[in-house]
Amino acid sequence: MDATGLMLYEGKAKKIFAAARPDQVIQYFKDDATAFNAEKRGTIVGKGVVNNMVSERLFMLLDEKGIPTHFLERLSDREMLTKKVTIVPVEVVVRNVVAGSLAKRLGLQAGEAIEPAIVEFYYKNDALGDPLVNDDHLRLMKVATPGVLRELREQAHKINAVLKPFFVERKMQLVDFKLEFGVFHNKLILADEISPDTCRLWDMATGESMDKDRFRKDMGKIEEAYQEVLKRVCG
Ligand code: TMP
Repeated sequence: MDATGLMLYEGKAKKIFAAARPDQVIQYFKDDATAFNAEKRGTIVGKGVVNNMVSERLFMLLDEKGIPTHFLERLSDREMLTKKVTIVPVEVVVRNVVAGSLAKRLGLQAGEAIEPAIVEFYYKNDALGDPLVNDDHLRLMKVATPGVLRELREQAHKINAVLKPFFVERKMQLVDFKLEFGVFHNKLILADEISPDTCRLWDMATGESMDKDRFRKDMGKIEEAYQEVLKRVCG
């Protein structure tokens, strides 16, 4: 079954539909893929199903560990029911290993372990290309108070402490990942998705990328990698 109700918002990888209750929404996961601020566009067949199922599993795991999330229930292979939050326009990136934009920006060798993990904030704004910002910038723009930023950082580390060993048990290294949070009844909770679109996952046996980097860098076997993550996380 696919969502048929009122569409409230369409993003690059998801659509948000109204739910029966006004304080809930339905997240519909598309197969559309973009990279480099949507300069590159494509389709990863079956991605929406993988990201919905993987996000469900990870949100349930985090919930069990006492980390509040927007997840309520999976409705179908591409849809989940969530709390309706007001998204905080900050992309919270957690890094356990040097890769991606960090390697590029600082000229560091990709693959180097980062211990303890570092947390970065990006201002979620497509027109500006999601720039890296610090606490002072976010305070200046009135995007978040110091208290909210402290909480975002704390939650990000707690989530990493749960997810990192979960992936190791499944023979994947959680290199880095991006989180988004929202406000629900004055409380900050984890929102959006956690999936191979928003994580870097390296196969611990081969070191191969099992995530959206395969699409970003035209590495091939993209669908296969997503299916393998689904199998290891939900199988
Ligand atoms: P980066 O190295 O390109 O800054 O990416 C860090 C992590 O954030 C990586 O796991 C991919 C994820 N990410 C997103 O989920 N959305 C984005 O728009 C970007 C740029 C990265």
